[in-house]
Formats: sequence, C-alpha cells, structure tokens
Amino acid sequence: MSTSPIDATTTAAWRALSEHRDAFRGDLRGWFAADPQRAERLTRTAGDLHVDLSKNLLTDETLELLVRLADEVGLRGRVDAMFAGEHINTTEDRAVLHTALRRPAGAEPALVVDGQDVDADVQEVLAQVAEFAEKVRTGEWRGVTGAPVKTVVNIGIGGSDLGPVMAYEALKPYVGDIEVRFVSNIDPTDVAETTAGLDPTTTLFIVASKTFTTLETLTNARLAREWLWETLTAAGAIDGSEASRADAVAHHFVAVSTALDKVEAFGIDPANAFGFWDWVGGRYSVDSAIGLALAIAIGPDAFGELLEGFHTMDEHFRTTPFEQNVPALMGLLNVWYVNFLDAHSHAVLPYAQHLHRFAAYLQQLTMESNGKSVRWDGSPVTSQTGEIFWGEPGTNGQHAFYQLIHQGTRLVPADFIAVATPAHPLRDGEADVHELFLSNFFAQTKALAFGKTADEVRTEGTPEAIVPARVFSGNRPTTSIMAPALTPAVLGQLVALYEHITFVQGIVWGINSFDQWGVELGKKLAMEIAPAISGDDEALAAQDASTKGLIEYYRAHR
Ligand code: F6P
Repeated sequence: MSTSPIDATTTAAWRALSEHRDAFRGDLRGWFAADPQRAERLTRTAGDLHVDLSKNLLTDETLELLVRLADEVGLRGRVDAMFAGEHINTTEDRAVLHTALRRPAGAEPALVVDGQDVDADVQEVLAQVAEFAEKVRTGEWRGVTGAPVKTVVNIGIGGSDLGPVMAYEALKPYVGDIEVRFVSNIDPTDVAETTAGLDPTTTLFIVASKTFTTLETLTNARLAREWLWETLTAAGAIDGSEASRADAVAHHFVAVSTALDKVEAFGIDPANAFGFWDWVGGRYSVDSAIGLALAIAIGPDAFGELLEGFHTMDEHFRTTPFEQNVPALMGLLNVWYVNFLDAHSHAVLPYAQHLHRFAAYLQQLTMESNGKSVRWDGSPVTSQTGEIFWGEPGTNGQHAFYQLIHQGTRLVPADFIAVATPAHPLRDGEADVHELFLSNFFAQTKALAFGKTADEVRTEGTPEAIVPARVFSGNRPTTSIMAPALTPAVLGQLVALYEHITFVQGIVWGINSFDQWGVELGKKLAMEIAPAISGDDEALAAQDASTKGLIEYYRAHR
C-alpha cells in the first residue's frame, strides 16, 4: 500500500470526539429510561448474529462521530483495497487475502491478484483437503500396518494451532469418530503427554507451519517422528531400517505449509502436503489448509459450512454502510474506549463452554495484529493502539475476575456471547440448565450497565458502614452477541467478525495489522542463549548479569 496512513488524530472527527468526550457522562440508566427504543435502535444483525450495542457507553452523537471518523480515515477505501488484494501488508509487501479463502466456488468476477487466479488456487487446495479428510474419515487412508486412523495429532503453534484448537473445541458436537489432539509448546511435556497412550499404528501427525521454520513446531515434529519410529519398532510394526522408517513417515505424517520444499526436506512426501499462500497471515489461517485437522474431525461438509459463515460476515463487512456494519461499529467502539475513555483491555466472555478457547485465539488475532508502535509507513503511531484482550467463559469468570469489572477502578469493555440452543439441553429437575446459564449472561450485562445505587443498597437493610462496598456504579459497557446455535456457519461468522474488528482498529491507528516483527527478537536471542545453557562458558559470559544468574541457577539445579 503506497498510500500513507491518514493520521486519525488530525481529523475533524477526532477533534469532535475529543470535545464530545470532555462533556461525556455515561448514563445508561438515564438513557434507557428516556428512550424505550434504545435497545432496538442500537441492535444490529450480521448474518445469524444478533448484536446488541445498546449497553455501550455511547449516544447517537458518539456513533455519528465514530462513523465520521471511519470516513475521514478512509476506512471504505482500505476495506476495498484488502478485498482486492492490494499489498496492504507493507513491511512484507504482501496482499492480505484471508477473505479469498472463503469465497464460494465460481464467485464472479474471479479474483486475480499479482497475475494469479486466487480463486482457482483456493478451490484446488480446498478440494485436496476435502478429499484427504474423506479418505481419513472413511478409513481409506491407512497406516503402515494397514490400520485406519483413529487419532490425529496436529503439531503447530500460534496461528497453526490456536485457530484449529479453538474451532475443534467449539464444534465438538460435529466431531466424528476421529479424535484430534494438539501439540504446540516446545516444553517436552507437551509432546510426551499428548502422545501418551496413543497407538502409533492408528495415529496420523499433521505438521502445520506456514513457514516450516518455526523452532517449536519442527522440534516437536522431530520428537513425534522419533516416537513413531520407536513405538512402531517396539510393536514389531516396522523393522527399524531406514526404508521402513521412511515408509512409516509416508503413512503417518502429512504437512500443511506455504514452504513445500522444506516439507520435503523434512521427509514428508510432497504428495501429502497441503499448501497455502503468503497472503494468508498465520492468525488468519484457520480457514486455509491449516484447518486440515478440523476438516478431518468435522468432515468437509461442515468445514464448507464454516467457510460459508466466514463469507457471510465478509460480505456484510464489505457491503454494509458503517452505521449498520457490525465489525465496523464494534471496531470503532473499541477505538472510542481505548483512545477517548482510556480503556486498556477488552474482555471477551462467551457463555458457551464450547468457546472456551475463543479468548486465547482472539489474543493472537488482536494483539499480534494491533500491538504496534509504528504505522504502515514506518512513522510513529499518534495514539494508543492495541488493547489487551482476555477472557474466560461465563459463568467461570464470574467467580474469578468479574469483581474487578463490576467495581474496579478500570474501564473494561466486554463482549458477551451466547447461543439460544445449547448442544446439550439438560434439565436439573424442573430447571432448564441452559436457561439458568443464560440468566447469568443477562444478569451480568444488566448489573454492569445499571449498577446499584447506595439508596438501593440501603433499602435492603444493609448496615451503613458497608453500603459503599456494596454499591455498583454501573455504566460498565458491554456488547451482547447472540446466535441461534453454535453451528459451523455461526462460528465462521464470529471469527470473521473479530478479524474485521481488528482490521478496522488497525486502519484508524494507521498500522499494518498483518506483520508480527515483535516476535522476532526473542526467537533470535533464544538461539543465542541455548549454548550458554548447555555449558558453553563463553556464551554464558556474553550474557547480561540477570540472564547469566538465571542460567547459572539452572546449571546448578539441573
Ligand atoms: O512467532 C509468531 C508466528 O510467526 C505467528 O505469527 C505464527 O502464527 C506462528 O509464529 C507460527 O508460525 P508458522 O505457522 O510459520 O510455524
């Protein structure tokens, strides 16, 4: 993208927002009392998602100014540039086309980027993924002894792990007979415990790595390969010769990567490798071949429904005016909270146990994307950027950290997410447990918005001395997202929603949300430090005093 970012802080809308903020007093009680239509007016629909923005700290004027800000920073043009495949990832000179991964087959006009028919490429890999997934699911794909696959182990980290795990957990009711396990950490505990108890003859490893250079993933892949060879040899399934080992890898290892040459060098047959492209960021890749483990688990049809869900949200984002555009509005609201109301973090609280890895997934999506201090032209940012995303499923969080959200001194905007139809409609006697669960969602957002005054506390007969401790200020902002059920399509819509929220914030801040240089330095230093740990005194002497002390402690106690 050659266009320089527009400095949002110099726009008329930003100035107007600052003045608006100076006079702003959150009054959700008053606003709701004065306007019976507030909830209706501030609820939007995107695909299957019902999104109630009314319990946010905003007035009509706030909304109008935020939309104006979007216009003044050229959001519409940036959206079009992304969908068209312009090289908006400036530091890597790449297009950003995760939205192409979910375009339906035969979409018109065809998407040709940098001379390449992107649609054709995507459909080709998708067909390979579907065919392979079906082979594994039907038992046509067999291990070295002829046994069908019962367990898939996905080896990856970051975007090559968090998306697939999150989606696998979210779509558990759609998972067939094949179990998927995930290894990500280079802590050897992870491989050891994940492979524990597995039968090597029925285990398939997927090495998922965009670059195929990631230390954790390649180390874990080698450990898994050793485990495979040893356990197959011990079981008499292979004779341990080089040829039998190669045969074992051919039957029990496949890979997903953009670097197919490196896959081959690892010993995996390129015929068993599934590609993707440099225009898919790792944290935006769950809907690429990186989702292979998921496609095996839930089947190609359900995987296709997931992609349709993504596309529904893409189209909503691409074509809907900002006043009605859910990702645009949620992204702009986040800007309002971060830059004008001094919020430092944002909680995501799914009232859906199946979304228990959603916040972890969003942490990479949002924080690796928008945790930046320079803009896409290299100049320093002109305002605060990426807030800290965090969360846990309700109701667990209620009994842990909600205290701070209700009564702490910090503003923590929160997204509550729930579905109407549960996967397991259980009853506790007369009580529908899902309804009990949802009543907590509604109660929490109500308490956060409207609080409890000192007079209300007193009316309950509370002793005066503890009245202050029992007051809830209210005016704690929440967005409520509901959907009919956690189907693959709904999950796709949810993930795409947050992808686009992240993008909107990045555009307002003028940053490139698609590179991640901030992870490089630590990786490089780890390689330099490794010899010092294993005994190289010269390398040890080169360390700073604190690092040296820590390494010496390790050496003394190992
Ligand atoms: O270190 C950060 C990162 O590059 C992420 O952006 C990425 O998702 C992860 O590492 C894994 O990378 P790869 O898929 O290339 O192994």
